[in-house]
Amino acid sequence: MKASIQSSGFVLIVDDTPTNISVLAQALRQAGLAIRIANDGVAALKQINQEQPALILLDVQMPVMDGFETCRRLKASETTSHIPIIFMTALSDKASRVKGLSLGAVDYIAKPFEQDEVLARVKVHLQLKQLTDQLEQRVEERTRELQNAQVQLVQQEKLATLGQLIAGIAHEINNPMACIANNIEPAHEYIRDLADLLRLYQQHYSDPVSEIRDLLENRDIDFALKDLPKLLDSMQLSTERIKKISISLRNFSRMDADTKVLTDIHEGLDSTLVILGHRTKSLGERPEISVMKVYGGDIPEILCFPSAINQVFMNILANAIDALENVDAPVITITTKCINSDHVAIEIADNGPGLTEIVKQRLFDPLFTTKPVGKGTGLGLSISRQIIVEKHQGQIECFSDPGKGCKFLLVLPTRTVSTEPRMSTTAALV
Ligand SMILES: Nc1ncnc2c1ncn2[C@@H]1O[C@H](COP(=O)(O)OP(=O)(O)O)[C@@H](O)[C@H]1O
Ligand SMILES: [Mg+2]
Repeated sequence: MKASIQSSGFVLIVDDTPTNISVLAQALRQAGLAIRIANDGVAALKQINQEQPALILLDVQMPVMDGFETCRRLKASETTSHIPIIFMTALSDKASRVKGLSLGAVDYIAKPFEQDEVLARVKVHLQLKQLTDQLEQRVEERTRELQNAQVQLVQQEKLATLGQLIAGIAHEINNPMACIANNIEPAHEYIRDLADLLRLYQQHYSDPVSEIRDLLENRDIDFALKDLPKLLDSMQLSTERIKKISISLRNFSRMDADTKVLTDIHEGLDSTLVILGHRTKSLGERPEISVMKVYGGDIPEILCFPSAINQVFMNILANAIDALENVDAPVITITTKCINSDHVAIEIADNGPGLTEIVKQRLFDPLFTTKPVGKGTGLGLSISRQIIVEKHQGQIECFSDPGKGCKFLLVLPTRTVSTEPRMSTTAALV
């Protein structure tokens, strides 16, 4: 117990009477406590500002600044209010005792004092202070744990709901989409047939009745016949694009199984980019964001929860897009490579404004955001860190200097054990 009291720092004796000081100092030193001395309130405050004691033994009647005023100032400052203060004074009347305690002192010892009593009280208060500190630390830890758990719950809930919604929409789009796509070719044929018929009519009945002649004069039927096949071709292209988006949506949102599955991370990155396609397009003054992909050819499929990993890609890419809002030639570079036989690295870099030191320190904190209400939640990166570090035993780091853009590095273990169950892509689709 002695060791733990010693480790909590030194006791500051504030007194202007040399005999008091020497008696007290000796007693405390003998008990193994480190001590320092100040002769009045002002000197004490100066010392405390430089280094904080674990406890203060404070005389009341002193020159320059008395003990009550010293105590009042210490309690008024946030940095010193937690230091326990014991008054030691010849003012033993009730009013003075009440005043001392109401100023925030933890104890009040009347002079002349008994050495043993002072020592016992000092020890009690040091222990109390230590226990309070420990308790505060525990509360802080628990609060952080709770906050993390809450973030995780929100994330799971959000992912599950969003995943179902997106998968549902993708599924619903498929039937009408297939209907349009499959009917384009027959429509081409019917139009060809009708055009042939029309041409034959024109050949054999070159002098039609006035009603037909009027219609031919008022409408540009030749142009319509030439343009119709082009129109159908562009419809075909659009259906292919919708099909691609639908597949990306399903890939992005596929429900994660209880176990990790072997996944092509490039497919995840590409699906995420397709979904973010509307955000990389030019926006007001800002030109379209060019996305450079430097994909490593030797990246194996990695064992992971694919929709959680896609969520991380989405969070980091969405932040990069936000950061590029006022950049003249915005670029996002995505690089993937194997760093050894068991780990792959994914780098997502932007040429935005980068991070200040303060933002860098708090980047991954839950609820930390520099964006206005409604735009930022401050959850993206803390969720991403949980997914990468806790769910996948990987690493997530950010490199950035102000004005020099931002680079997020993800390192994921591949753990491509050949005996692991493999979920086929089609089985993973809805
Ligand atoms: N690529 C980036 N460039 C500049 N700042 C970034 C970048 N990515 C993240 N940040 C900073 O980190 C903060 C936290 O990001 P995040 O956790 O995703 O929350 P949110 O995007 O909702 O603010 C952002 O508000 C922003 O200040
Ligand atoms: Mg974000």
